[in-house]
Amino acid sequence: MGVEVSVEGLTKSFGSQNIWRDVSLTLPSGEVSALLGPSGTGKSVFLKTLIGLLHPEQGSVIIDGTDITQCSAKELYEIRKLFGVLFQDGALFGSMSLYDNIAFPLREHTKKKEDEVRRIVMEKIDLVGLAGAEDKLPGEISGGMRKRAGLARALVLDPQIILCDEPDSGLDPVRTAYISQLLIDINAQIDATILIVTHNINIARTIPDNIGMLFRKELVMFGPREQLLTSEQPVVKQFLSGDRFGPIGMSEEKDEAVAAAEAAMQAAGISGGGTKDDFTEIIPQVQPNPGMPERKAVGRHRQRVLELLPSLPANAQQAIRESMAMEDEVLATKRAHEQGQGQAGAAEWTTATATAPGSVAVADAPTDVYDFGGNDAPTQQWETPADAPTEQVDTTKKPRHGDGRS
Ligand SMILES: Nc1ncnc2c1ncn2[C@@H]1O[C@H](COP(=O)(O)OP(=O)(O)O)[C@@H](O)[C@H]1O
Ligand SMILES: [Mg+2]
Repeated sequence: MGVEVSVEGLTKSFGSQNIWRDVSLTLPSGEVSALLGPSGTGKSVFLKTLIGLLHPEQGSVIIDGTDITQCSAKELYEIRKLFGVLFQDGALFGSMSLYDNIAFPLREHTKKKEDEVRRIVMEKIDLVGLAGAEDKLPGEISGGMRKRAGLARALVLDPQIILCDEPDSGLDPVRTAYISQLLIDINAQIDATILIVTHNINIARTIPDNIGMLFRKELVMFGPREQLLTSEQPVVKQFLSGDRFGPIGMSEEKDEAVAAAEAAMQAAGISGGGTKDDFTEIIPQVQPNPGMPERKAVGRHRQRVLELLPSLPANAQQAIRESMAMEDEVLATKRAHEQGQGQAGAAEWTTATATAPGSVAVADAPTDVYDFGGNDAPTQQWETPADAPTEQVDTTKKPRHGDGRS
């Protein structure tokens, strides 16, 4: 089971610049959590503080009973082995092949023989859909492939905690859906605790069990995903809708005069550019691919949320109840298909359920998994020249995560 990460009263500054203060949250073991927040609010700094790369002035980060803000370098070295980290830019060594990049943690942290290293590296390369590209240098491949190589490297030590800094940045909506699905599949397979730092609202809506948001140097909230998605807080609503009208400004807080001018513009029907999507309408969480075990954290998460329920706002309570009912329906149908049709049938469940008559919740579930970004998604994919090289290598050649879907 994944390891719980418990953060209490954490404060971080660089010189006189305070980044965030008094941040407290717990990443429940084996659950998937997301951290949202405008650019520059210190999400990456938070992630680096969790692995002891940056040192906070105050507070504690308890992992497996050890406060990593206080422990010795030797203890920290041991604790770090629990982590797999996908940094924002992939952080690959430019002069090393993908193979050597991915093998690096194994050669550094273990005494495994080269044939064992090769077995593990090739397994992870296969998992992230990079088979055939192992001899390439990071500079020779697309951003999406670098991201997946970074993820493969994060996975080689079988981490119990996985941190992903903007796994979606630089990826088109379809590739983003694949990498999100991969994270859910990995969670189902190894029950690792996962934290995803992201701006991507589709990820926030469909992947995590819990969501937190950093804003104005503070953690605005952290709780079950339904709580944030149904929040009435202006900053949360603005962030989710991607609108320029609201408390979040281009570079700093907006003053009252600006806020009043915006209110007048809105009243006059001028758009702030945001989506009109209703985020309070909870859509089903992404499920592990056919053939994967069920996520063990789902039951634990539900238990925890039920205990928490009375303390949550009424709209969050209602959203959670509806979402649980929806989940039960999706899971029951998925189980029925897997049992009734065996492995072969399981692989076909997408097609089968997508056409299941009169079953709205079920028909919706696979669609959300594969159709991230709505009808525009595939179009955007082909229009992204920077990602062009990716197409030849992954999905067509190794449709590991595309099984039964084409
Ligand atoms: N090593 C560092 N030294 C000084 N300032 C830093 C350092 N790392 C990040 N910062 C500052 O911390 C703030 C938050 O950065 P970051 O965590 O990268 O934001 P986010 O990931 O939310 O976009 C920024 O103002 C950035 O300039
Ligand atoms: Mg960042």
